[in-house]
Amino acid sequence: MQFTIRMASMADGPALQRLSRQQAARLYHADPRLPDEITLPAWLLLPEEGACWLACDAGGVPLAALAVEREEWSSDSPFANIFPRAYLRMRYFAGDAADVALTFPALLARADGWQGVGRDAGRMLLHPGCDAALGAALAAAGFAPYHTIAHQPLPEDVPASPPADLEIRHATRYDVSAVATLMAESWQFHAVHQPAILLSDSILEGCQRQTRFMLGDGVNRALLIALWQGEVVGFFSIGLSLQDALARPALFHKGYYGDIYEVGVRGDQRRRGIGRALYAVAWRWFAERHVRGIFVNYAPTNPLSSRFWPALGFRDAWVNWWRA
Ligand SMILES: CC(C)(COP(=O)(O)OP(=O)(O)OC[C@H]1O[C@@H](n2cnc3c(N)ncnc32)[C@H](O)[C@@H]1OP(=O)(O)O)[C@@H](O)C(=O)NCCC(=O)NCCS
Repeated sequence: MQFTIRMASMADGPALQRLSRQQAARLYHADPRLPDEITLPAWLLLPEEGACWLACDAGGVPLAALAVEREEWSSDSPFANIFPRAYLRMRYFAGDAADVALTFPALLARADGWQGVGRDAGRMLLHPGCDAALGAALAAAGFAPYHTIAHQPLPEDVPASPPADLEIRHATRYDVSAVATLMAESWQFHAVHQPAILLSDSILEGCQRQTRFMLGDGVNRALLIALWQGEVVGFFSIGLSLQDALARPALFHKGYYGDIYEVGVRGDQRRRGIGRALYAVAWRWFAERHVRGIFVNYAPTNPLSSRFWPALGFRDAWVNWWRA
């Protein structure tokens, strides 16, 4: 397959949309949970502060594209504990005629040699888990899975069988400090298994802020806690989210979903059914709100969550790949 590479300009907008539509339709056949059509905003295809390269056939028609832009999180952002503080975010679009194994490394080499912002930063690329060809090309280029968005339709029923000595209820403001301590412990656990995470020095204050936010309004957000012998030993923070192609690139079909934000069980209480019991109560909250499915983000490098979520029926839909 012969192709040449050039930088994209605004005039390439329609061609980029065509590539993205072909890609979305193809991936939808491989995993019908994904949207069958995606209309990407121009700023995402042609980032103002970044760059976009095209691999074009002999007639100059774009076959595939790689867009690159810098992403940065300040240490007090809730995302600072999830992602590295700064990296180049990449998006790859392949039309039906593109050979991924050839076009991806060629486009990546252009991005790697680029003189723009963040030349030395790590790279992060989000793509659907069902895209085996790109997964293989990413692994060959030294990338590894960093972060997964997993999903399942709302199960018919989830049997609630909490361990007999456990109480589960909604948190109040008096529980904020105990939940924040568990949350900080959970982030420390994550960081041990993902060296790219740089925890903030004020992680406890950040977790307290986040916990107060998660207490929610009782309608769109909820914070569930598990108590054992009067102590908070686990929490599940959940909420409703609207997937809307107008607001951001759609990850799933349009509609209301149940979001599982943060989850933790105290170290000495793990593996005795507390996480599963909290999930059963979360399921009831979601079922009352008639969501069309539930999704959760987890780190594939975390040896506990990477077993816990699949055991509850979640399947990977999108994967962020990372190379330092
Ligand atoms: C992930 C976590 C919340 C799970 O809570 P938990 O109360 O220990 O989980 P449960 O005991 O309810 O386990 C439910 C199922 O998950 C799977 N599972 C959980 N921990 C596992 C482990 N260490 N190894 C293998 N499977 C495991 C099992 O299938 C288990 O069912 P089983 O015990 O009947 O076989 C807990 O391990 C934790 O807090 N981890 C550290 C922080 C973290 O990773 N947070 C998740 C953020 S996404």
